[in-house]
Amino acid sequence: MENKKRIYSAIQPSGTFTIGNYFGAMKNWVALQDEHDCLFCLANMHAITVPQEPAKLRARTYECLAMLMAIGIDPEKSILYVQSQVGAHAELSWILNCTAYMGELSRMTQYKVKSGKQGSTIRVGLFDYPVLMAADILLYQADLVPVGADQKQHVELARDIAERFNTTYSPTFTVPEPFFGTAGRRVMSLQDPTSKMSKSDTNVNGFISMTDAPNVIIKKFKRAVTDSETEVRYDPETKPGISNLMEIYSCATDQSIEAIETEFAGQGYGAFKAAVGEAVAEALKPIQEKYTLLLSDKGELDNIMKKGAAQASRIAYKTLAKAQRKVGFVLPK
Ligand code: TRP
Repeated sequence: MENKKRIYSAIQPSGTFTIGNYFGAMKNWVALQDEHDCLFCLANMHAITVPQEPAKLRARTYECLAMLMAIGIDPEKSILYVQSQVGAHAELSWILNCTAYMGELSRMTQYKVKSGKQGSTIRVGLFDYPVLMAADILLYQADLVPVGADQKQHVELARDIAERFNTTYSPTFTVPEPFFGTAGRRVMSLQDPTSKMSKSDTNVNGFISMTDAPNVIIKKFKRAVTDSETEVRYDPETKPGISNLMEIYSCATDQSIEAIETEFAGQGYGAFKAAVGEAVAEALKPIQEKYTLLLSDKGELDNIMKKGAAQASRIAYKTLAKAQRKVGFVLPK
């Protein structure tokens, strides 16, 4: 019990989840729960680094919680909570803002990409986002942080900040490691298999939402972009569309890529696309049923959030007090 590694991850409740989020990240979290001491956070404070409609953000917080539970995150096994309900995140962020350098934040690729599109109305919070993320991780003394490749640089920054703080004062924070689950897949767009599947894609045929109805799922896979050959063969370089569909089929059915090549040998793309659609619809069905049920009881979701925030707070405020003491703040006696 004592030497279980602590895992921390978070997801922004800023839109409907896609099978890319699920197969690429969330499904791995479920598997980690038994062997590790896990915390999963709904990062609504990160979400407001770009403009959000308040009513939508609120609704999506409930939806996101219900979806995480529907896929199998169990609040009895893991701590599942909403970031803004634990005030220590904002408080530690301030201290870490006084540890982080402008230079290192300016080098963050995600900031450069996102800010490039926004000009002078760019929020200070977007620039500071990686410091808040460092506070998230360091508050819980996390050993491992499962993230996708796009967040690796932010976890490395959290390491740098932790090491700098520990050296300046004295050992305070666990230095976290990024962690890429073995089953973590990068699911690509169904319309442009060279770019990542994204819920913000303007073409809805590019992604499968976790709440898409079975007939919609099947139709989207039928329309998926492939190539002019006919052979179901895994080759991400020259056949990115088919290879992506094979990866998705593999995630949905837990079959190996080799087994899929054998199963569909000589069958052509039409039959294969139909099978992928059926398999994904089948895999999502029990999740969707559970999701609808959970979402119908907001009061119960409120209780779960409250319990998670209380559990998270016990850990977070202990670390916060330690950091405050180290920098020379007088703690209330
Ligand atoms: N920034 C992450 C994302 O958008 C979400 C996140 C916030 C996170 N805090 C974190 C991930 C801490 C891991 C650890 O995907």
